[in-house]
Amino acid sequence: MDCKVLAVLSCIGIVACSHPEAYTNRQQLYNDLMHKYEKNVLPNSGNGNGVNVTLDIMIRRIIGMNNHILTLDAFIPIHWRADNLKWKPDKVGGIKMIDMPSEIVWKPDLAYVEGEGKTVFIKSEGANVIISSDGRVFWDAPVQTKTFCKHGELHNGDEIDCHLTFYSWVHSSATLDLKLVADQMDTSSLDVAFNPHWKLVSTHAKVTNKTYRHCPGTYPLATFTLRLRYVA
Ligand SMILES: *[C@@H]1O[C@H](CO)[C@@H](O)[C@H](O)[C@H]1NC(C)=O
Ligand SMILES: *[C@@H]1O[C@H](CO)[C@@H](O)[C@H](O)[C@H]1NC(C)=O
Repeated sequence: MDCKVLAVLSCIGIVACSHPEAYTNRQQLYNDLMHKYEKNVLPNSGNGNGVNVTLDIMIRRIIGMNNHILTLDAFIPIHWRADNLKWKPDKVGGIKMIDMPSEIVWKPDLAYVEGEGKTVFIKSEGANVIISSDGRVFWDAPVQTKTFCKHGELHNGDEIDCHLTFYSWVHSSATLDLKLVADQMDTSSLDVAFNPHWKLVSTHAKVTNKTYRHCPGTYPLATFTLRLRYVA
């Protein structure tokens, strides 16, 4: 298409304000990445035969505590590296990032315990993943967690600890190791005014390796702890 015609069309909103090659490049990149890609197979990342999966919890709201069950609104930003999703930007018009539906790429089988023992898998229908040319995949799963918190009768000023634990359902640390972004949760987006009865005092995050009697290897658990103060 003539450049001037294109400029006119884009001014009146018929053509998106990008070069037509951009679409062609993205399509080329998509085809290159997805050709022979198998989302059901755990990728290798970098220097090992497996992946390091790094996670964080970004708390947005403390919804409330009901019958010892703490409900939180949160995002779980998770990232890892996949050698089968790398590309050279200069081969595709300089594209360094692409987004794709999370359903079509491999994702870690992360689960957590809800309430008094129900296993819940992290899913995110609709949330795209972002992939960078070095193979890093960024997935930000919105979740509403329901966590069991042990406490006695609550009085004004009481502090209680609640623990959220994430783990891979099948993988040991040899194939899927868990890492943390920080040793605390991300509270930068917390709406502190949302629930005046619960004040977040502090958070803590750590990874521990667990062993099971009949399984070889160690299994990583990422545990996030919230200390909350009750305000009557
Ligand atoms: C995972 O990270 C550790 C360092 O924390 C590194 O030694 C190891 O090679 C990484 N594994 C993979 C598969 O990249
Ligand atoms: C858990 O074990 C894996 C593999 O043995 C090791 O790479 C990792 O650093 C360990 N993690 C912790 C928190 O000890």
